[in-house]
Amino acid sequence: MRSMKKENQPGNYQLKADLEGNYLIDKEHKATKRLGIFYAPSGGSVHKVARLIKQKLVDLQPDLFVISDVTPLRLLDYHNLILVCSTLGRNTWEMEQKDPWSSFLPKMLRIRLEGRKVAIVGLGDHVSYPNNFVDGMGILGRTIEEIGGKLIGETETRDYIFNDSRALQEGKFIGLPLDEDYEADKTETRIDNWLKGLRNTREDKSKLLIPSLPVYNSSRGRGSGLFLDRNKS
Ligand SMILES: Cc1cc2nc3c(=O)[nH]c(=O)nc-3n(C[C@H](O)[C@H](O)[C@H](O)COP(=O)(O)O)c2cc1C
Repeated sequence: MRSMKKENQPGNYQLKADLEGNYLIDKEHKATKRLGIFYAPSGGSVHKVARLIKQKLVDLQPDLFVISDVTPLRLLDYHNLILVCSTLGRNTWEMEQKDPWSSFLPKMLRIRLEGRKVAIVGLGDHVSYPNNFVDGMGILGRTIEEIGGKLIGETETRDYIFNDSRALQEGKFIGLPLDEDYEADKTETRIDNWLKGLRNTREDKSKLLIPSLPVYNSSRGRGSGLFLDRNKS
């Protein structure tokens, strides 16, 4: 009999199985770590950007994972998540399995991310794909919302040239779009500005998905930002 991966073993998480044998995760699983960065694919621009973001947030001691090394259960360990993806063709996410996120997304539907804040970085190419600019970010974002995660880190469109994108919500990008193919020189500034915004994000009680969860203490200097560790507040 094949042994289960350690992180899938009952005991580490509260697991229940449905009638088809799929695991279902207990909603109450407590996050214990502050920030996890998850990315795919590996070895290209997404990988480079994910490492850069980790470097820039080194004071928060984030963990970095390529999603092909983990199951979605790993997301539950973190209060805050940064997900980095690209768009590899309009149909890639839904039909072909070229992008690791496309096979990860259906598995994510088995977990709940209530109480977790999720910021997405989406890489794309605004010159070759102006009608589908960073579509992958939009698809990932919809899944996050479906499983109860709170999306943060939206970006105004004024710095970008494109025709259409599935990553738009109420006139803004739901996360941070980057174009390493044609605007690589803008990447670092875009990341710096975005992270500055994330660090200053204050918990808005009225928008909490689960109001009963503890909220970050917003009266304590720099620690009042997004990534304040709940356990240390
Ligand atoms: C086959 C293919 C299809 C692509 N389709 C899109 C697209 O629909 N929209 C977009 O914004 N970028 C698209 N891109 C651009 C990639 O998202 C971009 O080059 C990204 O930086 C690739 O990241 P990676 O090197 O980590 O794979 C596509 C690239 C390729 C190779």
